[in-house]
Amino acid sequence: MAGRVAVVTGGASGIGRAMAKRFVDAGMHVVIADVEDEALQTTAAELGVVGIRTDVADAASVQALADASVERFGTVHVLCNNAGVGGGGVIATATLNDWKWVLDVNLWGVIHGLHAFLPLLLANDDGGHVVNTASMAGLTAWPGIGPYNASKYAVVGISETLAAELRGSGVGVSVLCPGVVNTNIFQSQRNRPAELRNPTRNPGARAANSQVTNMVGIDATIVADHVHDAIVDDRFWIITHPELLTHVEERTHSLLDEGRR
Ligand SMILES: NC(=O)c1ccc[n+]([C@@H]2O[C@H](COP(=O)([O-])OP(=O)(O)OC[C@H]3O[C@@H](n4cnc5c(N)ncnc54)[C@H](O)[C@@H]3O)[C@@H](O)[C@H]2O)c1
Repeated sequence: MAGRVAVVTGGASGIGRAMAKRFVDAGMHVVIADVEDEALQTTAAELGVVGIRTDVADAASVQALADASVERFGTVHVLCNNAGVGGGGVIATATLNDWKWVLDVNLWGVIHGLHAFLPLLLANDDGGHVVNTASMAGLTAWPGIGPYNASKYAVVGISETLAAELRGSGVGVSVLCPGVVNTNIFQSQRNRPAELRNPTRNPGARAANSQVTNMVGIDATIVADHVHDAIVDDRFWIITHPELLTHVEERTHSLLDEGRR
């Protein structure tokens, strides 16, 4: 990892911040990208990394991030498509803007990242690695967060496709599927664009009480260690809460039982 260049979206907070710190500790050059400017500047200064304001929902903004990273460091080796927002609500009552906001950031953010950065990674003589942040909610559907589940299932599907397509290319792919991590995810409304607001959701409020928000989270540094090791070992699945895989097992059993009946 030492001497290589990493770009982490959503790097101003939570898991992205912890990944950026872990990469700095490994001797990497790091760019963090985030839409929340003040947190971005503070985190960049604290970690001693480059901070570039980026809206991952905007293709041009992500392309500008790629261009600025190349201008600064010559290339990019590790791309962490990590920026994300939580929730979206119960499907029966979610507004179209609830869907649009969550999918714009969580799904289109990943697509924009791949579109802008894959040519750089694939052109490297010394390869590269993509880490897409999905969630346990990309492997099993939790009630109350339909748009979020949709976005994360899509990120898992994109990652599996990409891994198959890039086999032998020198660019590895991992998908990060954590359970609950102690971050600012439950205050995601803070970064919601005004034109996509849902007046019933208070920007300052913690997400509604639910099965997910009541879970006790792990520290983001633990997640960052998993990510670092998965890149080094070139492993696809990054599972930080293996105890939650029982839900995946139940889902798979129900699929096989009903599908083969
Ligand atoms: N915290 C958890 O329990 C958990 C569990 C599974 C997956 N995840 C995923 O981890 C990733 C990181 O989230 P976190 O938990 O660290 O939350 P966080 O809110 O602490 O950090 C997310 C960061 O993304 C940034 N962001 C939001 N919208 C953006 C946009 N349009 N463009 C650029 N940056 C934007 C935020 O400003 C913030 O700094 C997300 O993809 C999230 O879905 C989190």
